[in-house]
Amino acid sequence: MKRPAAAAACPAAAAACPAAAAASAAAPSAVAVVLALAGIAAGCGTSLPARGGREGRDAPAAQPSGDPRVESLLARMTLEEKLGQLTQLEGAWDAPGGPKIDDRYRAMIAEGQVGSFLSVFGADFTRELQTIAVEKSRLGIPLLFAFDVIHGFRTTFPVPLAEASSWDPAAVEKAARVAAVEATAAGIHWTFAPMVDVARDARWGRIVEGSGEDPYLGMVMAAARVRGFQGEDLAAPDTLLACAKHFAAYGAAESGRDYNSVDVSERTLREVYLPPFRAAVDAGVVTLMSGFNDIGGMPASAHRGLLDGVLRREWGFSGFVVSDWESVGELIDHGLAADRAEAGRLALTAGVDMEMVSKTYIRELVAEVRAGRVPMAVVDRSVRRVLAAKQRLGLFDDPYRYSDPAREKGRILTPEHRTAARAMARESIVLLGNQAGILPLAAADLRTVAVIGPLADSRQAPLGPWSVPGRAADVVSVLEGIRAALPRARILHEPGVAIVGGAGDGVVPRDAASRTGSDRSGEDARGIARAVRAARRADAVILVVGESDTMSGEAKSRADLRLPGRQLDLARAVIAANRRTAVVLMNGRPLAIPELAAQAPALLETWFLGVETGNAVADVLFGAASPSGKLPVTFPTTTGQEPLYYNHKSTGRPGDDKVVWSSKYIDAPLQPLFPFGHGLSYTRFEYSDLSIGPQAPTARDTLVVDFALRNAGGRAGVEVAQLYIRDPAASATRPVLELKGFARVELQPGQTRRVRIEVPVAMLAFHGADMRRAVEPGEVQVMVGASSADLRLRGVVRIGGARMLVDDRSVFSRASIR
Ligand code: BGC
Repeated sequence: MKRPAAAAACPAAAAACPAAAAASAAAPSAVAVVLALAGIAAGCGTSLPARGGREGRDAPAAQPSGDPRVESLLARMTLEEKLGQLTQLEGAWDAPGGPKIDDRYRAMIAEGQVGSFLSVFGADFTRELQTIAVEKSRLGIPLLFAFDVIHGFRTTFPVPLAEASSWDPAAVEKAARVAAVEATAAGIHWTFAPMVDVARDARWGRIVEGSGEDPYLGMVMAAARVRGFQGEDLAAPDTLLACAKHFAAYGAAESGRDYNSVDVSERTLREVYLPPFRAAVDAGVVTLMSGFNDIGGMPASAHRGLLDGVLRREWGFSGFVVSDWESVGELIDHGLAADRAEAGRLALTAGVDMEMVSKTYIRELVAEVRAGRVPMAVVDRSVRRVLAAKQRLGLFDDPYRYSDPAREKGRILTPEHRTAARAMARESIVLLGNQAGILPLAAADLRTVAVIGPLADSRQAPLGPWSVPGRAADVVSVLEGIRAALPRARILHEPGVAIVGGAGDGVVPRDAASRTGSDRSGEDARGIARAVRAARRADAVILVVGESDTMSGEAKSRADLRLPGRQLDLARAVIAANRRTAVVLMNGRPLAIPELAAQAPALLETWFLGVETGNAVADVLFGAASPSGKLPVTFPTTTGQEPLYYNHKSTGRPGDDKVVWSSKYIDAPLQPLFPFGHGLSYTRFEYSDLSIGPQAPTARDTLVVDFALRNAGGRAGVEVAQLYIRDPAASATRPVLELKGFARVELQPGQTRRVRIEVPVAMLAFHGADMRRAVEPGEVQVMVGASSADLRLRGVVRIGGARMLVDDRSVFSRASIR
């Protein structure tokens, strides 16, 4: 793309920036925010607005909620009661006999000192606590019960990263809907999901909770999940408040270490990390969670530039923000606040409406408000937002509507929910390799099958992280699924080895010694010989290896992405013993497994698929379904390549393994093991006949990309066709590829269909040299293919007209299939 004729010079003076000028006219208190944004935008060295007025005196004026019920309550509330509404306390979800709360919290409810609980559920228990709030507290304001309903409730669905592998937003929306139906039946009003953090580093354990590395796929999935949880009508008793988390850029933790600091440019923040949040906001998400992390010197839970500037002023968000667990109290550990009073003051005035767990608001802010250090208007503003959410859920009309034991009995783990979980699980499986063409296995030929590996008969691991109400007893293990699919075959089972690290089935816990390499537990290889004997006797082998469910998720960063323990030795031996071995991976992040990928006759990525794991894996292994998943994350060849992602910049010396002075490694290949978007099928797809129009669109037009897709193989299948663009010359450097659309296309053998993907040109906007988001005129390359590294069709358009500023409201492409 050509440089814009009128690229703005460094707007050292605020007046040079029209956005700043406009904002300052509209809202004087936002001037600091906008000017600082404009400053960094222009590369002038100013940082993203940090804290604004440290004492909160220049906080924006409170907006009346407009709701007479909320206003009348607010008028009657004492300061303590107001701060109570902004306080969320924790329950013990894992207490024997079901969730419990600290007894002292009951008195706090009666005194109006709590607005919400997290990790409390169950129709009877939530009813009991709600009764205290409604009948014993002075104003009878109902409590809001929150919980991490991340991938299903009792019917555990695939982990979010797996669901994203389906590239099927309709199915993902349905999964969230099922979760909402079950969770609300257990008294829950609010889920801390979706997690929409883009993650480019597989060492980060929480990569499992999101939709992977791509901002556009992340936007699509964020919006789908918000729609699924919140449904059409929040007042319906089976809809949940959703919560987009962790605002913002938590996934960019340095070196992939959880909770670590983040230092990203404002361009990367706005183009990579913020878009899924914006999509959640545009889909109507009612709450956001502020992150644990520091971003360039300002912790996210005190980041006024983000919480007030970007979220409220730029995006018009009108819901409320909750902190992460103790992230307000942790402002002291960050080195931002000197004491708890300052921590609470900084968070609330920055825009964190509700505080999770650390209790600085309820304990410290009465004095701060009385001393004039926190304006009452700031407190009122947050209280209005929280009460408005309670009102939208219908809790003022019927505080017990979610706590219904009959509904709880009838609507949890129903056969329909299990069917939906099985369909979602099947779609989430990615066929990484099928070199020997051994899949699908013909069930009729199999008299003896060996099912090997430490995860083969695990009912715990398939639940994955964040599956608290999920029960291992509900899970169909891979072994059980295979037994059910092959009722006449003889099934041999050998775990082979244990997994080192984490906890759970087949796992040897790591102790402190093992981190220094001196612990040899879990390295017991005697089981390998037994596994080899079983493999030799079998017509085919299913080898299930990977990570335990406790090796990914929060605080589960890994510095080594290889298969843990002796699993590779097991795989080598088993594959050597029987070439008809299908390797089934179960894990929560991309793994560095080049040798396994080269040797495995077939390799399936199944992530953690939830309660229907075994059935879904059997559906794919034996050909009842052809795999259709595509990777939402890049797999590295070696851990040292991380962070690794397809939409990187070109550099001035684009990497080439054969060119010495290029951007590469001397001791590792440049290429990933499996690229973003990769995923095979049991059939073959041919792409042809690309047309793109109009050839010279303006920024207001929509590109229509049309092509033919043929199933050239002998089985029915689904292809996820992907559309990427590249802008080869722009006023700021652009990624080598950017996903802008995709289509899931079902094709019978021999069938050809035409696929049309409509891409509004506004989707090609980016933050140019002046950091203003615009569509720039000039050439854009358009590519269509089966993955980011398997591009089959290429075309070019030339965007005409003048450079056009475009705001960052979410815009999506649309696929249609004929
Ligand atoms: C996590 C959040 C979660 C919260 C409540 C925190 O430790 O970072 O994602 O929602 O706990 O369980």
